[in-house]
Amino acid sequence: MPGLLSSPVCLTVIWFLSWSLRPIRAQIQPDEVSGVQYALLESNVTLACRKSQIRTPVVWHHNNSAVLPWHKVTSDGTLVLLHVDLSAQGNYSCYDNGGLLLHSVKLRLGHRPGSLSISCQVPNHTHVRCSWVESVKTFLPAQYNAILLTVKGQEPRTCVVDVFQKHCDIVLPAYWSYIQTLSVQETNALGSETTYARMHLHKLLKPNPPQSVLVNELEGFPKRLNISWELPSSWPQSLGYPLLFHIRYRPEGFVHWSKVLAEHSPVVILDALAGRFHEVQVCARDEPDSESLWSEWTAVSLCKPWEDPTEVFPTDDPFPEPQTSTTKTDPSVSPEDEGNLGLVILLVLFSVVILTTVLSLIFVVWVRQRRRNHVTKQQLSSMVKMKSMPI
Ligand SMILES: *[C@@H]1O[C@H](CO)[C@@H](O)[C@H](O)[C@H]1NC(C)=O
Ligand SMILES: *[C@@H]1O[C@H](CO)[C@@H](O)[C@H](O)[C@H]1NC(C)=O
Ligand SMILES: *[C@@H]1O[C@H](CO)[C@@H](O)[C@H](O)[C@H]1NC(C)=O
Ligand SMILES: *[C@@H]1O[C@H](CO)[C@@H](O)[C@H](O)[C@H]1NC(C)=O
Ligand SMILES: *[C@@H]1O[C@H](CO)[C@@H](O)[C@H](O)[C@H]1NC(C)=O
Repeated sequence: MPGLLSSPVCLTVIWFLSWSLRPIRAQIQPDEVSGVQYALLESNVTLACRKSQIRTPVVWHHNNSAVLPWHKVTSDGTLVLLHVDLSAQGNYSCYDNGGLLLHSVKLRLGHRPGSLSISCQVPNHTHVRCSWVESVKTFLPAQYNAILLTVKGQEPRTCVVDVFQKHCDIVLPAYWSYIQTLSVQETNALGSETTYARMHLHKLLKPNPPQSVLVNELEGFPKRLNISWELPSSWPQSLGYPLLFHIRYRPEGFVHWSKVLAEHSPVVILDALAGRFHEVQVCARDEPDSESLWSEWTAVSLCKPWEDPTEVFPTDDPFPEPQTSTTKTDPSVSPEDEGNLGLVILLVLFSVVILTTVLSLIFVVWVRQRRRNHVTKQQLSSMVKMKSMPI
């Protein structure tokens, strides 16, 4: 009767039956869950066989085997596992001497939660992600409850938890310049522990590194490189959130970097070493907030300045290392350096004057002291003479 099976009435009955059976299946699950017993590792665990205390001998099995971990069985059939380790986990079943199953329980072992080590990342002004690492491996599934306690008198905010990744997210955080506290509570079957982390959002603001860094030669210029990049994709692309960029570069094999700060891409550097590959990296920081953090550096980009095809460069010549930490792209001596030279000369002159004064003072004192000594000696000798004079 295929016609009958596909008839709407029959389908409705099937649907109604499956719908009405669903809650029954759901009701079975809690029973299975309650068949799990949790206990602390390294403790003694008591597994009861039945509620009434009938003193008849029983037999215990672990994972369907008669081999049990270190244990004792009390007179009422209760199993006590001593100083349990992870291998004591599993299914325990007790049977009467007729082989009838009386009780079965699943044992799971672990530790209570310990404190968490929490760290927060703030990649832009609209997103905070805090992640944590457990100080104690609990071996048990856990729940987390994360709350950001903002400012006194204000509603706390929920930090939305991802249990598997062990982090939580806050979208559109507020109170950037206040200290706020994140509390993360970890709960498992054996206990619960809350960890607090204080934070200052604006000091944690750290953009992701810039993207699509390109380093190009400039035709006709053997000492120039054109460095360009794009904003990190997690940073708002509007003009309202300016970034400050830090570019560093060095000829391959050199130790010291030259540095340039810039507010926009691209930047052309003028003091590259002709004929050499250069390593270039860029990082970024929120421009208005000097207390916020610099991003990580981008991966190294390599590029060689343009070479005149008609000229042959002696590539294995020892090149002198260029000025190491120029903050300007112009390699010529800056007025700042000239100012420094003047200051040094002034300092030297000043110390010569001081030295001369001190030396002459010492000389004057010394001369006066000598004279006084001379006079005392004369007085002494005259006294001696007087003493030795016959009276
Ligand atoms: C576990 O039981 C043994 C033997 O009964 C006893 O010596 C030990 O102190 C107990 N350990 C704990 C943690 O209760
Ligand atoms: C323990 O029992 C559960 C259900 O009772 C079963 O699914 C599981 O395979 C058993 N495990 C072992 C190791 O016997
Ligand atoms: C019993 O089974 C559990 C998993 O259900 C396992 O962790 C444990 O190591 C097993 N123990 C033995 C002795 O087979
Ligand atoms: C530098 O490179 C960028 C991106 O590739 C380009 O838009 C710009 O015109 C270049 N600058 C010069 C001076 O060639
Ligand atoms: C802020 O960063 C988060 C995480 O990287 C990202 O999902 C979000 O789109 C970013 N917001 C803006 C405005 O770029």
